Amino acid sequence: MASFSLTAPARTLFGRGCHVEAAAEIAAIGDRVLLVRGRSVAWVDTLEGDLRRLGCILEVVHSSGEPDLEQVRTAVAISRDHKADCVVSVGGGATIDLGKAVAGLSPSDGDVGEYLELGNAGPRRMSDPLPFVAIPTTAGTGAEATRNAVIGVPEHQLKISLRDPRLVPDLALVDPALTDGSLKSLTLASGLDAITQLVESYLCNRANPMTDALCKAHIQPAMAALHRLMTCEDAQARDAMFRASFLSGIALGNSGLGIIHGLASVIGGRGAAHGAICGRLLAAGLAVNAEIVARQSADVTRFDEVDGWIAAGLGAPTGGGNEALRRFVEANELPSLHDLGVPGAEIETIAKLSAHASSTKANPVALGLNDIRRILQLS
Ligand SMILES: [Fe+2]
Repeated sequence: MASFSLTAPARTLFGRGCHVEAAAEIAAIGDRVLLVRGRSVAWVDTLEGDLRRLGCILEVVHSSGEPDLEQVRTAVAISRDHKADCVVSVGGGATIDLGKAVAGLSPSDGDVGEYLELGNAGPRRMSDPLPFVAIPTTAGTGAEATRNAVIGVPEHQLKISLRDPRLVPDLALVDPALTDGSLKSLTLASGLDAITQLVESYLCNRANPMTDALCKAHIQPAMAALHRLMTCEDAQARDAMFRASFLSGIALGNSGLGIIHGLASVIGGRGAAHGAICGRLLAAGLAVNAEIVARQSADVTRFDEVDGWIAAGLGAPTGGGNEALRRFVEANELPSLHDLGVPGAEIETIAKLSAHASSTKANPVALGLNDIRRILQLS
């Protein structure tokens, strides 16, 4: 029997409208709160006022783009100066990752770089993190459910993970209403990230019965919800998308991913948007992987299932999932790899680097450089 373990937030509040409980939940965890917030989330102003009324002493850090080493260093210093006893992130995946890293590293005494999977020495073990509350405002990364924070290392043109089971949030408060009215382009890129995470987690070589159950139940509803959100605003579709995103975080954190996230970690290190990259690579990544599995006469059942769920979610005929996904991505104007800052001349370098990325290790089959190049060329 396949064995597995489960890492998930100690506590999760999920539901439309549950953000009104945030201030009381946070005040019950800490008095000196470091609040890490995205710039565009208006509700955080209300949360700040509510926390102050409940007696919390606040320090606020504004996150900007995907966190790099320097941003994490600065935010950790602010947290230590404030003597924070709790960190709260409200925002997209990058904001949650910044807060997660700050909660993780504030009680430790070394430099941020010593705790990353960088170089041959291996990361230092951090002290026990501060309590961390994650309140996502985009349905995509599932960062509110994972044990790692992705941090950019510009000098190496890479994204590296700060990874530790103790980094999983103590409380994930997930309210789909916080995504109502989000821009179509953000909804599309974020949603395709969540779907790619469910798909790669289901197909990867570390899939297990628990993660299978999550992925099987949510790939088709997520695809259908995203399809609907490209035509109109729909609360139920927002709910389905956030459910898929949150559960994709649990799935990937307890199984693995694959070449699409391996490539995204390399390309994303060059400043492009993670979700859009995953969405651009998904159809080609599935096609090349399925082709190799079939050539090896191995079992393609899971690839057929995924294709069927995507087809059903997009209203396409059986067997037409991959083609429907390509058309969906084009019709909704997801930026091309070129538009995302990936020049054709760099394909060789990106393919080589991604072959060794940590996500690639869980890919369902071993890929050669030719295979990875093809995924890029077909995307
Ligand atoms: Fe992702």
